[in-house]
Amino acid sequence: MAIELLSLPLPATADASKFADFGREVRGVDPGSLTPEQFEKVKDALYKHDALLFRNANLTPEQQYALTKLIGNGTVYNHEGLAEAMLKHPSHTTFHKTRVTPEDEAKGITRFYRWHIDAALYDLSPPKVTTLYGLKIPSGPTQICRYDDGTGDELPVPLGTTAFVSGKTMFDILPKELKSLAVRTKVKYAPHPYVWMAPSRAMPTGLGIETEGLELPLDQLPPWEENKRKVLPVIWKNPVTGNLHFQVHPCGAAELIVDPLPEGASREGALYPDGANITDLKEVRDLLYKMQRPAIAPSLVYPHDWHEKDLVLFHNRGVLHSVVGAFTKDQVRAFHQCNLAASDDPVGPTVEDVKKYA
Ligand SMILES: [Fe+2]
Repeated sequence: MAIELLSLPLPATADASKFADFGREVRGVDPGSLTPEQFEKVKDALYKHDALLFRNANLTPEQQYALTKLIGNGTVYNHEGLAEAMLKHPSHTTFHKTRVTPEDEAKGITRFYRWHIDAALYDLSPPKVTTLYGLKIPSGPTQICRYDDGTGDELPVPLGTTAFVSGKTMFDILPKELKSLAVRTKVKYAPHPYVWMAPSRAMPTGLGIETEGLELPLDQLPPWEENKRKVLPVIWKNPVTGNLHFQVHPCGAAELIVDPLPEGASREGALYPDGANITDLKEVRDLLYKMQRPAIAPSLVYPHDWHEKDLVLFHNRGVLHSVVGAFTKDQVRAFHQCNLAASDDPVGPTVEDVKKYA
């Protein structure tokens, strides 16, 4: 049977024109035992469509690991082992600076927990692919994900959804001066960013940290080395399509390193035309937020409606994602998640890309 790729059903809230290439349901193959030929086709589709769904998949943790390793091409970094059973569903209530009131929560109001890329962001390279396999999906009414950032934005979401946005769209919709800044900028992440950010609190959209000076001081972190800190381009070039994806984990970002405009580029309206090393956390976060917030608008979010035995493969170097919602005690959710640190870092825009957009 030939592999079939079908468009993913989009919610009514989605702007279909922005999802033409995003996401496919894969039919006609058993993801647990792909032939080498099928594997190549799946891998190619993953880079072209960023998220692949296999329904009714029967997959042991070992098969999931093997599939992830095949695509991810690296070594295991999940501390918990090869396939982690995520029984504790993280919720915004412990991570955001403000929270939805218990009364509103009872009415089904919720938030994005944390927009991110799966990555250690220290020493190891970001995984290329993450696989999520839904073992037990709670059923319940649709919730309303509220942005609570003064825009009035909100998005109806299935209970316990995983929300995705395209890093390509995040770049494509930027105005010229921010595209120019994005292609010239690298992010320097904090050492042990998750330990560093642990005492701090997130924005109501889950898209980064409020600047309140709560981060753990660098001298109180576990031992770290400057040369193991990650410095990654803001823009990651898709190795199959050549598309540019805006890939920043905003919570871990500590500094921005901006290259000057290339020779011959117009300085008119250009931001940081002579380059900069931005170390002020508020300035770093404000700039990233300005560039990333447009892409999490309700019309640009794909909230996956999980069914039991859904297997989702996503291109971790091409999308950002977030857990959404909170469960009552009797709503059990169990997933097997697997991702592997890659053996190399993502590649940034080429000299030609920089010339084109700067
Ligand atoms: Fe994740």
